[in-house]
Amino acid sequence: MADTERFAKQMVGAFHFVLRPAVEQDFPAIKKLINDVRINPIGLDWRRFIVAETPEGQFAGCGQLKPHGDGSVEMASIAVAPALRGQGLASAIIRRLVSEGPRPLYLTCRSTLGNFYPKFGFRIVEKDRMPRYFRRLSRIAGFVNSLHITKDRMLVMVLES
Ligand SMILES: CC(C)(COP(=O)(O)OP(=O)(O)OC[C@H]1O[C@@H](n2cnc3c(N)ncnc32)[C@H](O)[C@@H]1OP(=O)(O)O)[C@@H](O)C(=O)NCCC(=O)NCCS
Repeated sequence: MADTERFAKQMVGAFHFVLRPAVEQDFPAIKKLINDVRINPIGLDWRRFIVAETPEGQFAGCGQLKPHGDGSVEMASIAVAPALRGQGLASAIIRRLVSEGPRPLYLTCRSTLGNFYPKFGFRIVEKDRMPRYFRRLSRIAGFVNSLHITKDRMLVMVLES
């Protein structure tokens, strides 16, 4: 995709923002947001990220396409700064990653977000159809669930076409 298109200003509702590939200077903000929202902090290579920013250049959110050793690719690290949520920013990040990502494209999420991703075409994957990485992760999540620390389950979803 041409850089001019990647850097094009977008509008969601009344909210203007820019979606662009991350640069190294974005890395501290990416790490901080991922840590603050407590999602998987492993595998945060800034080169794989896209970031959203306000017209004033304020970091607003991020997401990445993360390859795994079994050949699968995960749409991961979707996060939006708390003050900027509910305006379609995550949806725009997801649509961009979906348009750039391969098929099948996987994701993991908490069960409370299980109704969010189907509108982008993702559906839940059963354990016996998961690539190795996600099967292992699911096994660990199942163990954590069995400890009753949280009622939230981990879902693995896939976009196939
Ligand atoms: C989830 C998150 C990325 C959504 O960002 P956003 O910019 O507000 O998302 P959008 O405005 O594009 O869409 C909001 C949608 O998310 C849903 N949503 C947001 N947080 C939710 C939650 N905790 N539980 C269930 N649904 C949630 C809203 O119901 C809304 O759905 P709708 O479009 O059907 O009304 C944001 O809340 C966030 O950063 N959360 C913390 C990190 C996280 O959980 N990331 C997802 C990892 S899988």
